[in-house]
Amino acid sequence: MTKEEARVKIEELTKLINQHNYNYYILSNPVISDFEFDMLLKELEILEKEYPELIDVNSPTKRVGGDITKEFKQVKHKYPMLSLGNTYSENDLTDFDNRIKKIIETEYEYICELKYDGVAIGLTYINGVLASAVTRGDGTQGDDVTNNVRTIKSIPLKLIGFVFPEEIEIRGEIIMSHKSFEKLNEERIEQEDLSFANPRNAASGSLKIQDSSEVARRNLDFYPYYILGEALPFEYHYENLTKINEWGFKTSAYTEKCKDIYAVFNYITKWNKQRSNLPFDIDGIVIKLNSLRQQEELGFTAKSPRWAISYKFKAERVSTKLNSISYQVGRTGAITPVANLEPVLLAGTTVKRASLHNADQIEKLDIRIDDIVFVEKGGEIIPKIVGVDFEKRTLFSIPVKYIDKCPECNTPLIRNEGEANHYCPNENECSPQIKGKIEHFISRKAMNIDSLGEGKVEVIFDNGLINNIADIFDLTYEKLFGLEKIFINDDGKSRIIKFKEKTVNNILIGINNSKNVPFERVLYSIGIRYVGETVAKKLAFHFKNIDKIMDSSYDELLEVEEIGDKIAESIVAFFKLQKNINIIKRLKEKGIQFSIDENLLTTQSQKLIGKTFVVSGSFSSPQRRKEIEKLIEDNSGKITSSVSSKTTYIIAGDNMGPEKLKKAKDLGISIISDDDFVKLIL
Ligand code: IVH
Repeated sequence: MTKEEARVKIEELTKLINQHNYNYYILSNPVISDFEFDMLLKELEILEKEYPELIDVNSPTKRVGGDITKEFKQVKHKYPMLSLGNTYSENDLTDFDNRIKKIIETEYEYICELKYDGVAIGLTYINGVLASAVTRGDGTQGDDVTNNVRTIKSIPLKLIGFVFPEEIEIRGEIIMSHKSFEKLNEERIEQEDLSFANPRNAASGSLKIQDSSEVARRNLDFYPYYILGEALPFEYHYENLTKINEWGFKTSAYTEKCKDIYAVFNYITKWNKQRSNLPFDIDGIVIKLNSLRQQEELGFTAKSPRWAISYKFKAERVSTKLNSISYQVGRTGAITPVANLEPVLLAGTTVKRASLHNADQIEKLDIRIDDIVFVEKGGEIIPKIVGVDFEKRTLFSIPVKYIDKCPECNTPLIRNEGEANHYCPNENECSPQIKGKIEHFISRKAMNIDSLGEGKVEVIFDNGLINNIADIFDLTYEKLFGLEKIFINDDGKSRIIKFKEKTVNNILIGINNSKNVPFERVLYSIGIRYVGETVAKKLAFHFKNIDKIMDSSYDELLEVEEIGDKIAESIVAFFKLQKNINIIKRLKEKGIQFSIDENLLTTQSQKLIGKTFVVSGSFSSPQRRKEIEKLIEDNSGKITSSVSSKTTYIIAGDNMGPEKLKKAKDLGISIISDDDFVKLIL
């Protein structure tokens, strides 16, 4: 392929991928499979690797990230980024409407939008190409986070179509959905990182990550709400929002035209009720005049536009009595104080407990037993105590004395420098920690012994039959049959777990099947601090077996991709303990996989399933052709001799037949070299 041909192909692929991206993320209507999409992207990646000088800063390959931002440059906004006036009442909104009526004197209409609870961003497009993405900052200048924003799939890197202003700024909110937020926090908890308090913090933290490939994994989303520029397509906000949808932006299906302030009230009532069903957080709604001329007529105050206002939802708040504080011990030994409240109705559910986070929080709010406390449910799912009704405090109340010994095993607690939580260090003898480790070991992503669910582990543990993960493999029918325990739920109802014949058999089958779990998952299951699923995989494939990992030094561990000093230290500390070595030895004797199964590495992959290849022309050697054909077959692809509409790729050597070449071009089939093909499946 000549450089010119490569340039044309790169352009073609870019267009195609952008269109498929739009179909998927904006229209929610993909027309090709994920595999086909990945193949197109891979093809582009290969070309870019070969011709780095042809890489466009807005290439769709940037979506997966990789660019590192060492320092976020400060950039001045072309138009200052103002905020909105807030109201909390319908009266304020009526006043707002009256002010507008007085100035405008003619007909006007409102546009109501959701007030997305995320991070404001200004996206500048020059000649239809994303030129910069800047955060609000102090309103006059913000941080240039363009590299990270390029990974957000609902933000077009190039506008679709041909007609758009030379320069335009699209402002909107970058948000994180509840689903992505929960996934991220689960991962962070697993890796013992601090979790984010809410999706807004998570979105804002994500934009400031240096490595954009990590940002790509966070699944951020974008909703546009304000368009700025000299030559906008329409004189109306709503119509412009619809237009930018054609250019590749997601226009909110939640935005509505309202003919007067009463229609606005209806919109507010509707979303106040329905906001809990949205897949992301909002903290109110925004009301704007639709006509840009009328907007101009009203103008701005120093801080905010006069043509728009936000109505903020009140966080629902009730007061109730704090009866007591209990302390929970987690799998890692972290202590969480929990407030036991006099049951109270809040946002449709009865609240009996609220998290108090840590000792600092209790001290900061000066919370005491028997206080009347305020409980709020805002955007977040878990209710929280936001303050104390000091007027109702009894005369003799005393500040809470935070526990200094573990409530489960009485071991003195520790608190590491700079950490908010207290910890129980007795990890091998403190029962919630032991149970937690066993529960982690049997969990779905670990050894997946689902016949041994949480309740059952507790019964077996309470009966003194298991004290560590290796003990699981010493369980027998005789030991398990007949065990039982009655659990009393929160609502007073009871549940009995009884080990009958079928239950026991299922448990034993589950335990036995877990001997087939591959090494990388076993490594994750044994619960080394900071070794999550990904790290376990990296370690397993690097060292190939547990003995090598046990013997490796801190420095050798650091050589593995993604292993930093915190993880390396933790691995070394884990294998220093004779107790852990004994457990591994026992697990090995029971037949658990402690090395990579080499056979597994070569079993047939499904990578090329449904793909048809034609191998044509002459290659560097006859063996090379055989090698390629074997690779296709090993990866479940099909080989045919003639080119047809069913052909997915032609792998071309030198002197490919002219007829084949013409047919391939007519049918638009991609022609790739043998090297490209190899890269494609690696
Ligand atoms: S319009 C000049 N519309 O709310 C007016 N803002 O205080 C520009 N926000 O930080 C703002 N959803 O990030 C507008 N539909 C929406 C919004 C919205 C959320 C945020 C925005 C800003 C704050 C305004």
